[in-house]
Amino acid sequence: MGEAPACNTAFPVPLQRAFRAGAILPPAMMLSRRHVLLGASGLTILGCSRKILRDFQAGREIAQVLDAQGTRDGAGVSLKRALGGRALSYLDPFLMLDEFHTDNPNDYLAGFPDHPHRGFETVTYMVHGAMEHRDTLGNQGRLGPGAAQWMTAGHGIIHSEMPRQERGLMWGFQLWVNLPASRKLIPPRYQDIPADRIAEVELEKARVRVVAGTAFGKTGPVSGIDVEPLYFDAALQPGAELEQATPLTHNAFAYVTEGAVRMGPSGREVRAGQLAVFGPGDGVVLRGAAGGGRALVMAGRPLREPVARRGPFVMNTEDELRQAFEDHRSGRLTVM
Ligand code: CO
Repeated sequence: MGEAPACNTAFPVPLQRAFRAGAILPPAMMLSRRHVLLGASGLTILGCSRKILRDFQAGREIAQVLDAQGTRDGAGVSLKRALGGRALSYLDPFLMLDEFHTDNPNDYLAGFPDHPHRGFETVTYMVHGAMEHRDTLGNQGRLGPGAAQWMTAGHGIIHSEMPRQERGLMWGFQLWVNLPASRKLIPPRYQDIPADRIAEVELEKARVRVVAGTAFGKTGPVSGIDVEPLYFDAALQPGAELEQATPLTHNAFAYVTEGAVRMGPSGREVRAGQLAVFGPGDGVVLRGAAGGGRALVMAGRPLREPVARRGPFVMNTEDELRQAFEDHRSGRLTVM
């Protein structure tokens, strides 16, 4: 490589151009304060000051903050819908985020008996309690505390998701992620991730669990997902400060699950039960508010395709939706 650009004055012009052209920063390479590699453009910058790195890492401001809405789903499970409701029906490629968090068995015991899915992926992440998954083709898995499951429904599955406890705290999340049109009818695939396979990172005043993508030098166990997701769970003590690069091409959001977290360059406080949508930029900044806080942070490459969704099916057109309901009625949903 030639000379290092003059990092200590302004953002180098070639870098700005590369960003505008959609260059993607490999997150792992942002870890070192003094070494940034731009994969897509082939540029290398050495010796940048911490401040300059911060200037372009700290890019994403909070565009919108939404309160999760209480609702019921499945056979009568009480939950909070943070994404996918009336306030924000879609944050491409993310279709839905639900939180169930209760120690009242009446709120969760009914579970989610047999129901179909086609055309997208469901991601379950448990904090407390246990959930059992079983589909009509004989696939089965049990998610304990700290475990995750990334299920690609693809062409179709019919499954049940039932609590495996009769008392105590049940706390978990389900995220729905869209599939591109070309891959909506692929064979179903399960990635069952026990708690000890989720990448854990101990940072100053913070602990992060990485489910998918690379954050803070660790790569999560989920692989081969079309939208190149980043999914991590960050617990921050008061005063903790985390910066994480996110690809410029991606949409990103955070959902606060405990306490409060300050986000973005302006440090806007987002409280438990609130979803923060990040604007465009190259990274996210999280700071632990007084009392500390915890948040799920997610980013994914938008698909920019039409969405036709109803109930458990997410397709591109009304015709494909009708076909999904028809296939379910006639028993062909899971027959490829
Ligand atoms: Co389901």
